[in-house]
Order: sequence, then structure tokens, then C-alpha cells
Amino acid sequence: MRKVIIILFSNYPLQLYILTFSRYHFPKGERIEMKTQLENIYSSAKADIENAKSINDIDEIRLKYLSRKGEFNSIKKGLKDLSDEDKRIVGALANQITQDLEALLKEKHDLFYQKELNEKLQKDRIDITLSGKYIPQGKAHLLTSTTNEIVSIFQNLGFSVISPELSPEVETEYYNFDMLNVPKDHPARDVQDTFYVKGMPGVVLRSQTSGAQIHVMENQKPPIKVVAPGRVYRNENINARKNNFFHQIEGLYIDKDITFGDLKGVLNEFIRLYFGAARPTRFRSSFFPFTEPSAELDVQCIMCHGEGCRICGGTGWLEILGCGMVDVNVLNGVGIDPDVYSGFAFGMGVERLAMLKYAVDDIRLFFNNDKRFLEQF
Ligand code: DAH
Repeated sequence: MRKVIIILFSNYPLQLYILTFSRYHFPKGERIEMKTQLENIYSSAKADIENAKSINDIDEIRLKYLSRKGEFNSIKKGLKDLSDEDKRIVGALANQITQDLEALLKEKHDLFYQKELNEKLQKDRIDITLSGKYIPQGKAHLLTSTTNEIVSIFQNLGFSVISPELSPEVETEYYNFDMLNVPKDHPARDVQDTFYVKGMPGVVLRSQTSGAQIHVMENQKPPIKVVAPGRVYRNENINARKNNFFHQIEGLYIDKDITFGDLKGVLNEFIRLYFGAARPTRFRSSFFPFTEPSAELDVQCIMCHGEGCRICGGTGWLEILGCGMVDVNVLNGVGIDPDVYSGFAFGMGVERLAMLKYAVDDIRLFFNNDKRFLEQF
């Protein structure tokens, strides 16, 4: 008996030897049997733990041996049939074995946990030297962003944007020409310059945004301080500089005591804000039927700074826009008293301004929708 116990216990921690030998003097049948059972379960649990391969295995072993329905518990239930002394001895052994198993399970669990964590960290490692994913992003067309930029400059100078119904693209000759003081025989009215809508006499695709001036003056009393961005159409042969539609921004400022000085102040400020720095400008005398006096605003060439280059055609100046004091005939036409009110107007081409600022050398690039071009802005 003694030999058997020693062999059986040879795997056991020291405490168990002590327990075992101290109990040796009381070999009672029941107690011995339960001890043997406990020890057998301990050995098999220990073997299971040694063979475990994962946290999952460990969890299963814990369930198998230590859960309420596990093997230890069913044995512990038998304790109640033992004498008080045996209960104490076998109970202590059962508790000891439970504790030892818990410790072994925890040790193995921690080992696997660390191992699995390391593997996961290794696998999920982020290579911060890899280049990022390209996420294509849409953006405004260069013409849209240029229009927005110009409009917001004028908004900051106190202009508001005209509502679209006062600025139609399909227009009558009345607004596109007549009310703008354009003579009946003016060459701009020629079908070679202006698109007429088939079957609708007197209806045109507007050739300029200036008609919006008339609409707004018919609908609003001064003071009027507006800009009107929009598309215009002209019967042109298409080339690098001309397209049969393009975009303009019209401006109109009517109030008491508005002078050519106000015009110069506003437009010089516009140039400074649009090109990013104050630049030499010149107001060159010109002619438009709806303004008197009329001028064209030139800015010193932004490429050659006045030296003369291909962009400015050797002149050192770039033509930016047309402008002038609103003609008395125009004011009378819309019922604004020219003795009380005066004002200035201006009109500029959006494509031209974008071409100058971004060094675009062909107007057709705006309309081909070639992504290689559009993505640059
Ligand atoms: N409408 C003119 C054009 O298309 C530009 C223009 C010139 C507009 C003078 C104006 C202005 O308002 O005062 O060429």
C-alpha cells in the first residue's frame, strides 16, 4: 500500500506528499478510495493541461474538471458521507488539488494568451512605410472655382449676386441689345456674331451678361450693387482663344454720386485681390454702347511684368475687362433719373481670367473635360 501511494504521488507537489504521508496512519477504506480518485483526476487533468494547445483547450479542461458539473465537484459531493475527520483530510486534499490545478491552468492560459497576442500583433502589424491608399476626390471645375472666387471678391466689396431669373441665357434682342443702347445696325447683332433662336423672332442666346443690368434695374430701385455670373454664346470659329460659348461676370453699381473714381477704386481692388498683389493697371479709353465714358482695364502682364512676352503679345499689358459709367440713355430706358443717380458697370470673361492666372493657353481645355487637365486645379 505504501509503495503504491508513493508511485502514484511521484508527480505531486511537495504539499501533497506531506498530506499523503501525514494521513498514512489513518488508512480507512472510504478515505483511501476518494483520495485515489482525487489523485487520479489530478494526474489526468495535469496531463491534459500539458497537452493543451490553445486557450480554447485550457477553457475546456477547466470546464471538464473544475466547473460545477466537472469531475472534482462530483467527487466533492461524496465528502458528506465521510466521517468528520476524513472530511477534513480529504476536503483539504481536494482543495489543495483544486488550487494547484487552477494555478497550472492559469500559467498555461497566460502562456497561450501571450503567444496568441504576439502572433496577432505580428500578423496585424502596420507597415507605416507603405504609401497611402489613393482616394479619388471630386472637386469644382476650374471655371466654377474661378467664378466663385471672383464673385466672393465682389461680395466682400459689398456686391450681391443677382437672382437667376434676372439673368436668363435665352434672351430677347430687347434686353441683349436694344435696352443697352446698341444701334439697330450694330455688327454685333449680325447672325455671324449672335445665335438667333430658330422660329422665334427677336429671341437670342445672349451674347453678353450685360442684359442682366436691364433686368435688375427694371426690378430694383437704386442703390443697386450686384454681380451677375453666367454663360454667354457667340457665333465664333472655335480656336485656342475663342469658343462659341464662354462665361462672363457682369457688375453694376448705381447710387447717388457714383463717379469714375469709384469704378477705379473697386476694380483696382479686385485686381489686387484676384492676382494676389497690387499690380500696375491702366484704364484705356474704349467704346461700349451702354457706357459713357467707356474703358478697358489692363493689368501689367503677370508673366513678363511689363517686359513684353508671348502672353501679352509684346505689349507688356493684359486686357482684363470692359467697364464704364452707365450711359444716360440706359438709365432713362429703365426709368432711373440720371440727374439723381449715376453708376458704373463692368463685364469680364471668366475663361480669360482663369487662363491668365493659371497660365492655361487654350480655351478649349475648359470644355474637353480631360481629367489630366482638370485635376491640376
Ligand atoms: N458686355 C461687354 C462684352 O461682352 C463687356 C462689358 C463692357 C460689360 C463694359 C460692361 C461694361 O458692363 O460696362 O464685351
